Amino acid sequence: MVLIAVLLLCGGAAVTPVRTGRLGETAVALAGVAPTPPMGWNTWNSYGCDIDAGLTEHAADAMVSTGMRDAGYRYVVVDDCWFAPDRAENGALQADPTRFPGGMRALADYVHARGLKFGLYESPNARTCAQVGGSYPGSTGSRGHERLDAATFAAWGVDYLKYDWCSTESDPGAQVGAFIRMRDALRATGRPIVYSINPNSDIDRTPPGARYDWSGVATTWRTTNDLLPGWKLREGPQGDQGLREVLDATGPLTARQGPDHWLDPDMLVLGVPGAPGTPYPGLTPAEQRTQLGMWAMLAAPLIAGNPLAFTGAETVKLLTDAEVIAVDQDPLGAPAEPVAGSGEKVWRRALSDGSVAIALTNPGDSPARITVPLSELRLARSNHYVARNLWDSRVIPLDRALSAEVAAHDTVLFRVGPR
Ligand code: GLA
Repeated sequence: MVLIAVLLLCGGAAVTPVRTGRLGETAVALAGVAPTPPMGWNTWNSYGCDIDAGLTEHAADAMVSTGMRDAGYRYVVVDDCWFAPDRAENGALQADPTRFPGGMRALADYVHARGLKFGLYESPNARTCAQVGGSYPGSTGSRGHERLDAATFAAWGVDYLKYDWCSTESDPGAQVGAFIRMRDALRATGRPIVYSINPNSDIDRTPPGARYDWSGVATTWRTTNDLLPGWKLREGPQGDQGLREVLDATGPLTARQGPDHWLDPDMLVLGVPGAPGTPYPGLTPAEQRTQLGMWAMLAAPLIAGNPLAFTGAETVKLLTDAEVIAVDQDPLGAPAEPVAGSGEKVWRRALSDGSVAIALTNPGDSPARITVPLSELRLARSNHYVARNLWDSRVIPLDRALSAEVAAHDTVLFRVGPR
């Protein structure tokens, strides 16, 4: 009854900030699993269904050797297509015997032995997205198997579940019920498991992830359909979007999040090869800075998807930037907000040590000088502040305004604190 009332209150509206009316009856889905946004690496963006145990082990090793693990990236997530097309006789999921011959428990052990955590993908419906799309055989979604599947994941040592809608059924009650069934099954295992949902897949243009506040249902929830490595797609055929469109859809929602309940504007696509000649040719260096910088401002999960063996040193340097990651992982978990009157070009995020992170972001196609008066930054005292540019570590004293020349599609990130 309460749930229906909440849905009626929230439903049907355009994307507007919702501060109350959480879905899922409780404040957070699983307490304590993600005090700060989860960080990790996922197979999908670079490898799709072309995955196996060797690739995953190699990814875990590369996370250690590139310094990504020590920078904070912890979860190694095996996305769609890891399972056998049929369940076992007792109804349990099983790993694809050809590509994961040792099974998932052995793979989780390999990942854990390297100081990393292990994640898997499933769907609350009858089929996963690859099965719906026909690129993978079988019908092994978790619908009707939630308790058994959650127990199987826990027994295998899974620390993170990506749970992907993969259905055109958009009834909010059906969605919430299905996602809550797995939330409750995960709770029942007693194992701390990050519960990362995507309520949008196969629902075009009205993504429920942006319409409702899913804080009580899941640890992280996707706000849009898939982000491809480009700037603007103007809604691809599957509702796929570019970086600009995902930022525009997610920015108004930040008040909904905090520790253990984070908005998910999708995975990092920096370093992910695009398709030349399409609207997603891969991100330019400026766009890469905008993705990492704005994801840090939004306190978004940082789930990389670059092909680890082939990633250039510049991309690894950006992905492992300690000062930018510190903004993303700030323990206060305070949401970023656009500074009034800035046309959403200036964003402010309060940090736990009393300093603030400021992003000057240029959505335009030509360079622009972006200036914000100090009075708009809501600092505790009115003068004697310095701004540290987090890309080049230069420190500039602040007098009346913070200002920078920002290249097209680029973002300059500052940490502003007392001198
Ligand atoms: C959906 C998700 C992607 C990925 C694929 C797998 O499109 O949004 O992130 O998990 O399914 O099929």
